[in-house]
Amino acid sequence: MSRQTTIPLRERNIILIGFMGAGKTTIGQLVAKKLYRDFIDVDAEIERRQGMSIPELFAQKGEAYFRKVERELIVDLCTNTRLKILSLGGGAYLQEEVRRACLAHGIVFFLDLSWDYWKEERLPLIVDSRPVLKNKTLEEVEQLFFQRQSAYALHHSRVVLNELEAEQAAEQIVESIKWTWDVYEPNR
Ligand code: S3P
Repeated sequence: MSRQTTIPLRERNIILIGFMGAGKTTIGQLVAKKLYRDFIDVDAEIERRQGMSIPELFAQKGEAYFRKVERELIVDLCTNTRLKILSLGGGAYLQEEVRRACLAHGIVFFLDLSWDYWKEERLPLIVDSRPVLKNKTLEEVEQLFFQRQSAYALHHSRVVLNELEAEQAAEQIVESIKWTWDVYEPNR
């Protein structure tokens, strides 16, 4: 269980959540660069530690194993690191323990986009590389998209990505975070 933290806002990890293919990695890298911070893509970190790709991990060890590894890594990063930009896989935030750790120790940004925009612009780019989309009809994917919104709704701040370039989205996040720092921790 994660308790509320006393980590100063300026030191808290900035955590990007949202549906698959929203652009969390690209935007996270840009935010990290703008704030001179390290970026950690949780999926890439899992792949590095496990020595295989996420599709291979799903195929060889199953989704339950992937979710356990994902949960343990995120809780560890939230509890034991500061000053990072983290991007989470789209399903990670469905796990309550992950949500609790992120909300207690970090600042959580939800990268939101509409179903219509996602379906037209993002789905074609990722459909072959995401195991959870495999063998699903469009109706089933739509269901998954809307089912997940109630978990994503538990965030500190939201950026609507439709029509925004990654650079513009990153700039919005940086402006919002600097505003938060200045308002809540003006004297640091
Ligand atoms: C998943 C999203 C993927 C990856 C895995 C499962 C999901 O990450 O973690 O394939 O359940 O939504 P992205 O959100 O980066 O695509």
